[in-house]
Amino acid sequence: MTERLHPVGAEPDAAGPIMGDPGPSGRFGQFGGRFVPEALIPACTELEAAFRSAWADPSFHAEFDEILRHYGGRPTPVTECQRLSDELGVRLLLKREDLAHTGSHKLNNVVGQGLLARRMGKRRLIAETGAGQHGVATATAAALFGMECLVYMGEIDTRRQELNVFRMELLGAEVRSVSSGSRTLKDAVNEALRDWVASVGDTHYCLGSVMGPHPYPWMVREFQRVIGDEARRQCRQLLDGVDPDVVVACAGGGSNAAGIFAGFADATSSALVAVEAAGGAAMTTGIPGILHGMRSALIQNEEGQILEAHSISAGLDYPGIGPEHAYLGELGRARYESADDVQVLEAFQRLARTEGIIPALESAHAIAHVMKVAPQMDGIIIANLSGRGDKDVSQAAEKLLGSPEKV
Ligand SMILES: Cc1ncc(COP(=O)(O)O)c(C=O)c1O
Repeated sequence: MTERLHPVGAEPDAAGPIMGDPGPSGRFGQFGGRFVPEALIPACTELEAAFRSAWADPSFHAEFDEILRHYGGRPTPVTECQRLSDELGVRLLLKREDLAHTGSHKLNNVVGQGLLARRMGKRRLIAETGAGQHGVATATAAALFGMECLVYMGEIDTRRQELNVFRMELLGAEVRSVSSGSRTLKDAVNEALRDWVASVGDTHYCLGSVMGPHPYPWMVREFQRVIGDEARRQCRQLLDGVDPDVVVACAGGGSNAAGIFAGFADATSSALVAVEAAGGAAMTTGIPGILHGMRSALIQNEEGQILEAHSISAGLDYPGIGPEHAYLGELGRARYESADDVQVLEAFQRLARTEGIIPALESAHAIAHVMKVAPQMDGIIIANLSGRGDKDVSQAAEKLLGSPEKV
């Protein structure tokens, strides 16, 4: 954003517990913070206070858990991949977020934020979306809680994810196509932040990942922590009390990775690995900078201009990553890898053929990494299958069958 930057706290906080409460500054080491225009500071502080109070309130947790269970279909299962494990020479488990209502992990976050918005007396939800999954989830929450909903989506993404555009409209949301900049997720976030500046009185910005200004990175991770808490318990049962050797997830903004990592953060024998798109690999090719209200790892040139990300998957087509990931990477607690479009399409097909599961192209990044490292290891891997691939089937068909591309 070009508006005046407003950092919270002059110095980074001392490191707290890994994946704990970052405190009022919202810093994760040198990353995070709240770099927003003056007009949004009260909205962010109001949201932080509301989240702190709700998250300490057992009745909020009871309602959150109840909706995730009876509406969202939680707990999602852990599936043993027999055939692919045999082929790869590892033991591969999948945490099945694809089986959650609306088809991805995004529902966990929007149920939390929807409940919070209602508690704060807001009547309208706005959101940004890349793959459309967060938009669909937000439109779903708005329908469930009886709120108005407007979703910003880059023009390119509206074309490659047209099924999800229709789903959002069917759910009663308005989808506004964004034709500025790279016409993808980054620009949709810009528009949503602009809308929020003008509408904070009655509107909650339902941000879709562990990014943006404090308290979003922390709050969204807490709403997604259910993935990791369930997965840890399920692994303990399945593996007789042992933790898996590797926990792997794809990362765009990083919410499904943060959610599963949170459950294993203190499992010292479990390596945590997040896989970004090779064309948007902020952790391996980026440098620290400020975007969308946070200080984090970003792909940018020497003048600090943000570079365009590229990925076959709209949900990973983002030039940054959430600040807590930058911190986990700096600490060495998590490792960051990347997969390119060719590897991803191969993983997409291989999981379908060996296990009968069509993954989202985003989730196929995690599977592609498993396929890459399996020859060098023989341990137990749990991969977070963040979403189902139905939304990606026509795009994959265009790539694989060689028909003219729309994108
Ligand atoms: C199925 C799926 N997985 C992963 C992502 C990436 O988001 P995050 O890194 O926040 O989990 C998206 C984003 O749209 C998605 O739809």
